[in-house]
Amino acid sequence: MQGIDKIEVKTVQKEDLKLIKNLMRIKHKIIVTSGKGGVGKSTVSANIAMSLSMRGYTVGLLDADIHGPNIPKMFKIEDEVLHGDEDGIIPVIVPPSLKIMSMAFLIKDVDNPVIWRGPMKIGALRQFIADVRWGDLDFLVVDLPPGTGDEPLTIAQLIPEADGTVVVTTPQDMALLNSRKSVGFSRQLKLKVLGIVENMSGLICPHCGKEIDLFKVGGGEKAAKDFDVPFLGRIPLDPKVVSSGDDGLPIIRADSDSPAAVAFEKMVDNILVQVGELEEKA
Ligand SMILES: Nc1ncnc2c1ncn2[C@@H]1O[C@H](COP(=O)(O)OP(=O)(O)OP(=O)(O)O)[C@@H](O)[C@H]1O
Ligand SMILES: [Mg+2]
Repeated sequence: MQGIDKIEVKTVQKEDLKLIKNLMRIKHKIIVTSGKGGVGKSTVSANIAMSLSMRGYTVGLLDADIHGPNIPKMFKIEDEVLHGDEDGIIPVIVPPSLKIMSMAFLIKDVDNPVIWRGPMKIGALRQFIADVRWGDLDFLVVDLPPGTGDEPLTIAQLIPEADGTVVVTTPQDMALLNSRKSVGFSRQLKLKVLGIVENMSGLICPHCGKEIDLFKVGGGEKAAKDFDVPFLGRIPLDPKVVSSGDDGLPIIRADSDSPAAVAFEKMVDNILVQVGELEEKA
């Protein structure tokens, strides 16, 4: 009995060591979260990662949504197969050098959902960090499923030294209420809130180019003030965000002059200020 206990302890320690070793090679870790589903976390994560990669940083993007892994679709790499050796799993690479890991690469049966209890999800997420050959990264961007369930909790526990969370919200009152929960959740887990992003904020009319305030605007900024956290920016509702996502190219790559792409780049500037990579503009 004693022997078995010893073996288990040893295995845990070896796993921990791999996790710590991998995390030590990653300078910044950014966790993208929201209280409510469908507000644009995956879109925001994909555009942050792509923008940072295009700026010359080495970047990894971890899709931590076990039940609804959408990131590979946003880069049209969902049919990719993972390879690896005794040193670990090789993430899928999107040019120029963005490394992506997702449950979607492991589960190919899209019609049957992954039905997993907490401990299995915890094990998978741990492997996604410890057993993947991320190498030396400037940034690891983690896209979470909505809410405060197993995945956000596990990621917060696996990466306690993360730079912090980017909380995505939309301007409707319900979404804002939920974003308050996300801020509270980050704080309870001692994760810094890098800031709030208000997505789907105003609609750019494709005909006249003027902005229509579909769901009001400014709620995210107010929530940021109330919580005393930075406001990272407003991203307009832009049909091109959907079409470019469906075509496998984040909007900042597909149409860098579009209002949404310009807004995303400003948001990334603000994130870089928050993690100390850029000086705040006067
Ligand atoms: N600024 C935007 N303009 C237009 N469409 C958008 C915008 N942001 C996101 N979308 C669209 O909204 C849908 C939901 O976005 P996304 O999948 O990123 O949300 P999510 O918060 O990750 O959802 P989930 O909670 O299910 O993980 C997608 O079809 C996406 O293309
Ligand atoms: Mg998502």
